[in-house]
Amino acid sequence: MKRVAILISGGGSNMLALLDSMAEAGHPATPCLVASNDPEAAGLARAAARGVATDAVDHRPFGKDRAAFEAELQALIAAHDADMICLAGFMRVLTAGFVTPWSGRMINIHPSLLPKYRGLHTHARALEAGDAEHGCTVHEVTPELDDGPILGQARVPVKPGDTPEILAARVLEMEHKLYPAVLRRFAAGDRRPVWLP
Ligand code: GRF
Repeated sequence: MKRVAILISGGGSNMLALLDSMAEAGHPATPCLVASNDPEAAGLARAAARGVATDAVDHRPFGKDRAAFEAELQALIAAHDADMICLAGFMRVLTAGFVTPWSGRMINIHPSLLPKYRGLHTHARALEAGDAEHGCTVHEVTPELDDGPILGQARVPVKPGDTPEILAARVLEMEHKLYPAVLRRFAAGDRRPVWLP
């Protein structure tokens, strides 16, 4: 049974989808920690309500000292004996110092069809480009931002009149399907990619 630490920064809707999925019979993983860089992240209370251990390492007191923040975060994750990490709406860039020891054991969901639109504001960028479709990607985390091996993608149509908010909501709905499907395979050691629909 793989022990999964989930890192969030906000509401944690992807985290909740992962918790709900891992609660299903026969799932090869179990959540051991939900942690955030923001002690006020709403997702922490939602995880605690489901009986999952939660904690936070506020990144703000560390200022520009990313290594010190990451050392605290690593200690917290290690204290919960995690076997792997899921980044789920986690909005801090992690350095190679944190990422490399987790190589092959840390995954992330990004709201675009990578390699298109790494970074932020992906929905607005897809609309500006006039893309006919958009979507989300789950990938292994490497030191390069939003760049690791792709483990799954889900596509949605872009529709006339879409705003970034409307498109983001359509993508988020697919994120909640894609991420659990990928985690179930990945935790069982199966790296075959998941393509949705
Ligand atoms: C989502 O768009 C996700 O793709 C991105 O963060 C946003 C919020 O995710 N990584 P969540 O609701 O906090 O899971």
